[in-house]
Parts: sequence; C-alpha cells; structure tokens
Amino acid sequence: MKKVLIQFAHPARSKSSINNAMRRAVEGLDNVTVNDLYAMYPEFLIDIEREQALCEQHDIIVFQHPFYWYSTPAIMKEWQDLVLQHGWAFGSKGNALRDKLYLQAFTAGGDADTFQEHGKNFFTIREFMAPLIATVSLCKMQWLPPFVVTGVHRGLPQDKVQYYAEQYRKVILALRDKHVDLNAASQAESINANIDSVLLEVV
Ligand SMILES: Cc1cc2nc3c(=O)[nH]c(=O)nc-3n(C[C@H](O)[C@H](O)[C@H](O)COP(=O)(O)O)c2cc1C
Repeated sequence: MKKVLIQFAHPARSKSSINNAMRRAVEGLDNVTVNDLYAMYPEFLIDIEREQALCEQHDIIVFQHPFYWYSTPAIMKEWQDLVLQHGWAFGSKGNALRDKLYLQAFTAGGDADTFQEHGKNFFTIREFMAPLIATVSLCKMQWLPPFVVTGVHRGLPQDKVQYYAEQYRKVILALRDKHVDLNAASQAESINANIDSVLLEVV
C-alpha cells in the first residue's frame, strides 16, 4: 500500500461545498493523510521542515483546491516557493521527491467547454497546468493528469457533489493500492474523465 498525502488548500472552507465533500470522502482512509494548509498556516508561516518531512513520508502527493484566477489558491504558491528548495526538491543533489506521483485535484466554476482555444477561457485545462507540470518535472516527480470537476459556478446539486466525492475516493484508493494504469492515465486529459479506462480495478 502506498502512502498518499493530500495537501488541502481552500481559503474559505466554511463556504465550500464540493471541496469539503471531496475531502470528507478521503479523510480517515488508511495510509491517507490530509494536511489542511490554510488551517495549519493561517498567517502563511509555513513550517518548511514539517512540510518536507510530510512529503518524504508519502509516495503520492496530491494538491486539492478550488481553481482561483486560473491557478491555485495563494498558499500553494507560497508552499512551492518555500518548500521546494534547491538541494532538496531539485538540482543535482535534490532528490527527495524523485519518482513520487503527483496529482492536482481541483474544482472550477467554468464549464468544461469554456476551456478551449475558442471558448470563454481561451486555454485548455492542460495549458493552465503548464507551470505545475514543469515544476513537477523539475522535481523529478511523475505528473498524473489532474482530477477535475468543472461547472461548479452555480453550485452542483447534491447528487452530483456525492458523485464526484465518490469518484475522488475511488481515484485516491486506486493510487494508494497501485490500481491505476499509469500508461492509460498519462494519455488521459483528466484522471476522472474516463475513469474505468484508467483504474485497473474499481475499488
Ligand atoms: C477568488 C475566486 C477566483 C476564482 N477563479 C476561478 C477561475 O479562474 N476559473 C474558474 O473556473 N472558477 C473560478 N472560481 C470559482 C471556483 O473555482 C469555485 O467557486 C470553486 O471551485 C467551488 O468549490 P467549493 O464549493 O469547494 O468552494 C473562482 C472563485 C473565487 C472565489
């Protein structure tokens, strides 16, 4: 069984619907740690040693958050700037994250069809991921296609919220239990778009 670290970043958790539900679906699972970055560091004073130790102790690193201004909430950038140090995360002697799997799991207000060249958001979701993909590569980790929920701008009905929360749980369990076809996953636009072709065994 692999160990999964979920870095949860939501600055307004009391107003969250979908991210809270997704979080509840994975919290308490064996070998899954949820680290709530805004709760841990409300003043943005990130404990670098603690964060590096957490990463070292896990095989799979997930960042879960709402999509904000075409990117991540601010604390994730602060986390990257401070935690991903030269000689630890990258550089010839920076191998702490080598070969770990990395998953971005996020929810976006925009509908799926707005994320294309001629759509309202001009760029695809993969294009918006460019700095993250390059960062993960520099840190010698393996990028997985993201877990994406689109179209949440007007709030999702409860049955849809439950559906995505359950999908998220399946993906996290499959990663933990090595039931993800990494070749199939690397071809997919998102890890959950065609979930059955990516999971070797539905958990
Ligand atoms: C400050 C802010 C910025 C946002 N930026 C985007 C954005 O760039 N693209 C998008 O699709 N949705 C955007 N949204 C919508 C959020 O992604 C959406 O409200 C969130 O995913 C809902 O998740 P929650 O119910 O867990 O809060 C933004 C929302 C806020 C509050």
